[in-house]
Amino acid sequence: MDLHDFAKQQGSAEPTLLTALRRASWQRTRHGRLMTDVHTGQVISMVTRMVRPKTVLELGTFTGYGTLCLAEGLAEDGTLHTVERNDELFALQDEFWKQHKRYNAIVRHHGQVADVLAAWPLEHAIDLAYIDADKQGVNEQLDALLPLMVPGGWMLFDNTWWDGTLEHAKGPKPDALRALNTRLAQDDRLHTVVLPIGDGLTVARKI
Ligand SMILES: C[S@@+](CC[C@H](N)C(=O)[O-])C[C@H]1O[C@@H](n2cnc3c(N)ncnc32)[C@H](O)[C@@H]1O
Repeated sequence: MDLHDFAKQQGSAEPTLLTALRRASWQRTRHGRLMTDVHTGQVISMVTRMVRPKTVLELGTFTGYGTLCLAEGLAEDGTLHTVERNDELFALQDEFWKQHKRYNAIVRHHGQVADVLAAWPLEHAIDLAYIDADKQGVNEQLDALLPLMVPGGWMLFDNTWWDGTLEHAKGPKPDALRALNTRLAQDDRLHTVVLPIGDGLTVARKI
């Protein structure tokens, strides 16, 4: 057994609501593979429990699996914003979100990530962001997001390993992820660490 399998086996079990949402996402959409992976979701949940953020922003909701993971550690008076352009997913999200105790704290934004970031009210500085929308736009998302984050705010980027193919893969998505990884490692406004879980989860803290 390698360390990844060991880590997945030894942690707490996936909560039953998330297991049910995962099944429904595979059965009722054509893109189940877009969902946040179980182990990554558990790490995200743990991070929010540690940080207790008041304002959370998720870019790219899909069926809302990551949203429920992020909701776990949201501050009592916190708000969890999530952005999705595909409104065909909303009924499925609601069906499962309604079963979570923090349902009323979730604010869904229907539209393009770039538009939501451009219109973001500065008084609602973001404590924690989960960046998981289109990968080709991830550098522009970082540019728009960084000024909206509180000093000391946390950004979590999924898929930064690109299934282990990042070194040689061609196309706009791996190109953007390579550029992102280099930027995150070199930007002295950030403190960055890559967690070797799921498809690569990069944690960057705004200094
Ligand atoms: C990888 S999935 C998100 C997975 C989700 N975070 C989860 O935990 O399962 C990416 C989602 O982002 C949406 N998306 C991609 N680009 C977008 C954009 N520019 N604006 C808004 N939504 C976008 C897609 O429709 C898709 O549902």
